[in-house]
Amino acid sequence: MATESVSIVSHPAQTTKDDVDLARVLSVYTICSTIWLILATAVGVLLALKFVLPELATTPTLSFGRLRPIHTNATFYAWASPALIGLALYIAAKSSGTRLYSVKLAWVSLALLNFAAIMGTVALDLGFNDGAQEYREWLWWIRVILGAGLVTAAWNMIATVARREGKSIYLSNWYTIGGTLWTIIIVLVTLVPWYQHGLGQVGVQGYYMHNAVGMWFTPLSLGVFYYALPKVMNRPIYSYSLGIFAFWTNLLFYPLLGSHHFLFSPLPWWLQTTAIVASVAMLVPVWGGSANYLMTMRGHPERLHRTPAMFILVGVLGYLLGSTQGTVEAFRSLQEVWHFTNFAVGHSHLTMYGFITFAIWGGVYALLPRATGKEPNNLLLGIHFWLATVGMLVYILALSVGGTMQGLSWLRGEPFIQSVVAMAPYWLWRSIGGSLMFLSHLVFAWNVWTMTYRRTSSTRQAPVPVAAGA
Ligand code: HEM
Repeated sequence: MATESVSIVSHPAQTTKDDVDLARVLSVYTICSTIWLILATAVGVLLALKFVLPELATTPTLSFGRLRPIHTNATFYAWASPALIGLALYIAAKSSGTRLYSVKLAWVSLALLNFAAIMGTVALDLGFNDGAQEYREWLWWIRVILGAGLVTAAWNMIATVARREGKSIYLSNWYTIGGTLWTIIIVLVTLVPWYQHGLGQVGVQGYYMHNAVGMWFTPLSLGVFYYALPKVMNRPIYSYSLGIFAFWTNLLFYPLLGSHHFLFSPLPWWLQTTAIVASVAMLVPVWGGSANYLMTMRGHPERLHRTPAMFILVGVLGYLLGSTQGTVEAFRSLQEVWHFTNFAVGHSHLTMYGFITFAIWGGVYALLPRATGKEPNNLLLGIHFWLATVGMLVYILALSVGGTMQGLSWLRGEPFIQSVVAMAPYWLWRSIGGSLMFLSHLVFAWNVWTMTYRRTSSTRQAPVPVAAGA
């Protein structure tokens, strides 16, 4: 099996001090977030094992109730968020043909994000939280620090793009800057306490939990695709206009769909129906955006072999399938079966792992070697890809099948314990799939090290023309 390095470097990296600074920013953001990926998913594996071995690690600090929000908040705000911000800062500078507005400000953002993540994790493990509001269990003042990290990052992105060489703003920056600004609003809306009582709290929770995914991770990842994909395919994006259309329709429909998490609840029926209609309307940006990426990849299967493009391909398919699955899950007739079951956990991992995490990996493998001039080992790239892909498929299939059986059992009115017993083999398979995913993260960490600070003799091929951005 060939083990030559992946060559995607199209011009000598680090030609000026600005390039060196930008490479350092991207490297350190990626390294910090990778450390958190390993910590957060080690906790994920432990959580999965607890379903197989219920007597495992039962002290309060290792209890399921504390570790679950540690896993979810850390994957969201300590892994995916800084990784995407690092990529977005790099893209803002490179696609605008300018230097980063402020390297110091980039360090301030990263310090705030990491400080919030450390405080949030420690506080959750010691039993301090803001209640069972999913993805915002961190104490309010820790979420203020997180918000400050986002504000400083947004400022840096906007100020960088404001210095662009040309008149137009490259498509990626629409998505990354738009996503960061929307998220600041979402974090603020959900921090203010006055209207968060009773059903008001339920409505705000639906708004937050889905917008955290749809107006933060989604636009940032789509922005990364729009920059990284033309680079790795060495051709322009299929349709710029379709990208703009998907941007506006995402903004139009996504903020309305959060209440689909509370169908059959005391929330007003019309609000629930509005959320279902918006969930169906989301097919417009999702299918439009996915078609744009797939058409860009069409006709060049050889460019998908052991290159960053294969991570992007899985990311695009994760986006297409995961989001379409979300639309289907929003119908009342189907949610009757799947709500509260493990099917929803399978859906979360198809989207947050199959889409967002693969998008980050695609972006890192595509752009980090360009920044540092150091390339990952081709064989290790393939090992990372297959461990993560196979592990994820096992994880999702097990929970989708098991979760459906769970829901049907409840609808039949069978004793609850019967569904618990029936889930046992599916939970075992979830642990096996999760362990493969975790192993892939260790390989990814090694590859990140190789692409950043490891001394290595990498081979480079002749420069190839660049298709998008600078
Ligand atoms: C080694 C990889 C991973 C493993 C083994 C794992 C495992 C788990 C487990 C056991 C749970 C609790 C499920 C339950 O309550 O029944 C969970 C929840 C969750 N995880 Fe992971 N996870 C992994 C990676 C990730 C990543 C990378 C992300 C996001 C970037 C993520 C996002 C989530 C979310 C959003 C939930 C909440 C699911 C829901 O309530 O629907 N996970 N994970």
